Amino acid sequence: MAEIKATNITWHPSKVTAADRAAATHNRPCILWLTGLSGCGKSTIAGALEHALISSGHPAYVLDGDNLRHGLNSDLGFSPQDRAENIRRAGELARILADAGLIVIASFISPYAADRLRVRQLVGPDEFVEVFVDAPVEVCEARDPKGLYKKARAAVAAGKPLGFTGIDAPYETPSNPEIHLKSHEQSVSQAVEIIFNYLRRHGRLVQQG
Ligand code: ADX
Repeated sequence: MAEIKATNITWHPSKVTAADRAAATHNRPCILWLTGLSGCGKSTIAGALEHALISSGHPAYVLDGDNLRHGLNSDLGFSPQDRAENIRRAGELARILADAGLIVIASFISPYAADRLRVRQLVGPDEFVEVFVDAPVEVCEARDPKGLYKKARAAVAAGKPLGFTGIDAPYETPSNPEIHLKSHEQSVSQAVEIIFNYLRRHGRLVQQG
């Protein structure tokens, strides 16, 4: 946890319990942490999963790296230090949303294992579900949905590297993710089904009615 600078602050406990919130949302909330290279399919899977969960009566919310960088994290770039702070803030926000009763779908490259571990340690042992959205960098580069690999290659050739993950910045592969997807071999709906089944098996989706 980051150092607390403020003094004279008190934690105000809530009278509403996690069980009360679960009853209201039909969730046993958790954080599904999607990590993987740019273009591996994180955002697409995250969006489809959010839709599937909400359609079946389970409130869920996507936290997306690109989106958060338009606001909350707009002061951060892509240095290792800024990425660590990006993930720290995203993790704290994910924790708050899970506390509110949501299934949180966090979609961040989060290339450093230590940053991901810090988020895991913020919440209870079963509440952090690491989902490795795996695809070879060649596949992600061929997809290049935002044209960023092309830009990164051109920048390297011009001697002005961008520090782009997978090209000239590292991605540390998860060593023991709870879920390992292979987006070059599975469809989006298969990926959603795998995650949905995981949630069911682990009692995260409370029966309704
Ligand atoms: S993280 O590394 O700090 O977790 P995050 O998921 O928030 O990254 O943002 C990644 C997105 O920012 C990418 O999908 C891409 O659209 C964009 N981006 C811009 N520059 C870079 C870069 N140097 N490395 C990786 N992604 C970048």
